[in-house]
Amino acid sequence: SGSEYINTDIVTLTRFLTEEQARHKEATGDFTLLCHALQFAFKQIAYYIRRATLINLTGLAGSVNETGDDQKKLDVISNDLFIAAMRSSGRVRLLVSEEEEEAIIFDHPDARYAVVCDPIDGSSNLDAGVSVGTIFGIYKLSDAATGTKEDMLKPGTELVASGFTMYGASAMLVITMKGGNVNGFTLDNALGEFILTHPNMRIPKSRAIYSVNEGNSCYWEEPVKKWVESLKDPEANGGKPYSARYIGSMVADAYRTLLYGGIFAYPADKKSPKGKLRILYECAPMAQVFENAGGQAVDSNMRRMIDVVPEHIHDRSGIFLGSYDEVQKVIDIHKKHA
Ligand code: AHG
Ligand code: MN
Ligand code: MN
Ligand code: MN
Repeated sequence: SGSEYINTDIVTLTRFLTEEQARHKEATGDFTLLCHALQFAFKQIAYYIRRATLINLTGLAGSVNETGDDQKKLDVISNDLFIAAMRSSGRVRLLVSEEEEEAIIFDHPDARYAVVCDPIDGSSNLDAGVSVGTIFGIYKLSDAATGTKEDMLKPGTELVASGFTMYGASAMLVITMKGGNVNGFTLDNALGEFILTHPNMRIPKSRAIYSVNEGNSCYWEEPVKKWVESLKDPEANGGKPYSARYIGSMVADAYRTLLYGGIFAYPADKKSPKGKLRILYECAPMAQVFENAGGQAVDSNMRRMIDVVPEHIHDRSGIFLGSYDEVQKVIDIHKKHA
């Protein structure tokens, strides 16, 4: 039979979600439907990114978002695609997006989910064809929720699911559910399906790779300076310094870190005392993925990242995430300097 050559029993994301739902006897199917809408948004965004230079989708939109970033055309389009998908799912009541000043309240008062998203992460890389992605998190609203943006000011520990896509050589989707494994899917363009290619992803316990924008080192606090110095010291690392890798798209740097191990950091510093990356739709979802894959994620105060509660929907934080031992080194150096 031909089955010895090719896999005739492929697990698509659609199948994966159906099987997940079947394992949860109490499930209503709402979460599954929401994820179907999500995956359609990802496919559309992947499609437009791939065609961007051909259809006049490079460059700036001419507007600035709430967190001060110049919006690219694809930031705006991806945001619109994401919002339309969430609205039409009928299962989402609230949506917070990097590209929207206020939380969006959908006209679905009975919907039980709230979604956070960074429609395009790494948008400064778009026009160079360098990998970018989409980050998402899903919260379940409590019965007491009133459907206002305050319902979104929750710690990452309450995320029911989170993950990200990376639009690279292939479009990859990494997703995890609360207390669950991390699973990686690859978009097969011909089939139009995300295929489970990386089941139960586990981040290596240690690896000598660091990923940080070292151009900011003049603004860093002492423990961060000491930490990066120690990574570059061959004597302190068995004769070889760490390798530096920095793409400038958190999703791409995080995805590499998840597969190869190492650490990604965007610390708070003297110029940006609250850090750069945003808690709700960048830090918390990534932290849940890394913890569920066996790594760690902490903020610049060395608190577990997913315990941090934002005061405003666009609040920022410093972040260190990666291999368990690599993040532990950061924590230990900060303790020593405290
Ligand atoms: P976004 O494109 O969603 O605004 O996010 C940009 C973020 C993140 O992707 C990346 O890790 C970081 O900004 C890069 O910042 P620097 O250019 O300051 O290194
Ligand atoms: Mn931005
Ligand atoms: Mn981002
Ligand atoms: Mn973005």
